[in-house]
Amino acid sequence: MDVAGIRMDNPLMVCSGVLGISAGLFSRIEAAHAGAVVTKSISLVPNKGYDNPTVTGVASGVINAMGLPNPGVDAFIEELGRSEVSMPIVVSIYGNDEGEFAELARRLSPHCSALELNLSCPHAGGLLAIGQDPNLVERVVRAAKEASNVPVLAKLTPNVADITKIGLAAQEGGADAICAINTVKAMAIDIYQKHPILSNIGGGLSGPAIKPIGVRAVWDLAGAIDIPIIGIGGIASWEDVVEYLYAGASAVQMGTALGMYDIDHITRIKDELDIFCASTELDYEGLCGIVRKRYP
Ligand code: FUM
Repeated sequence: MDVAGIRMDNPLMVCSGVLGISAGLFSRIEAAHAGAVVTKSISLVPNKGYDNPTVTGVASGVINAMGLPNPGVDAFIEELGRSEVSMPIVVSIYGNDEGEFAELARRLSPHCSALELNLSCPHAGGLLAIGQDPNLVERVVRAAKEASNVPVLAKLTPNVADITKIGLAAQEGGADAICAINTVKAMAIDIYQKHPILSNIGGGLSGPAIKPIGVRAVWDLAGAIDIPIIGIGGIASWEDVVEYLYAGASAVQMGTALGMYDIDHITRIKDELDIFCASTELDYEGLCGIVRKRYP
């Protein structure tokens, strides 16, 4: 299948931030039959991220605030050179402004199948400010697009009043697809120690708790924009995948579920999705938007 110019065997992608950081992990993800992997978000210079604790479990999900740790673009290009997979690698990037996004896009696009712009980390102040402002989103997407020759995906935050305005701005800037959603702003407090659990205080909620928020975002975007949508948020079963596809997604990304189970959970979901497709006599593309199209 082809999603925004990315050739994938199936619509199951691994989302940014969970596993996609080394050539060895890319091989394990490909062996688990993922359609594509999105890497950890990469910046111009190395970033060590926040101090621990950076992750905590809550009912129906996980709150994380890692602080975008990554080895920086130079080291990551070397790592990409060690990759032996034929599965598409989508490199997630983040910068402080459109110039940094453009520089990252220029440096990384020769080494990957596509770029995903992280416009949505809920606790990196600069990124959230970009991702909540349609004018900035349009400018950043345009700059990255002009600096690269691979598809450019814009990953949007749900932490806005109307995600369709941001989606339209990304489309106007030339995005090839929208990824929705990133995590939802959240926090947890240790009532015995009387302090926030995460070192950063606030973080982003992922996992089953946010699936209905992601499905709604995809549904709304599908009614507003013309480019493909990649659905993200709380996907842990083949039924979750079908729900996102029915809402209008062309593909999906999974993250938290791979921590709750294991990498081979991708294989299990793919096998079950294939059985469902065979029973409906539809291919993956045939499932896209089935319910959404009934509600123009
Ligand atoms: O803290 C983090 O690295 C999270 C990034 C994100 O949500 O985009």
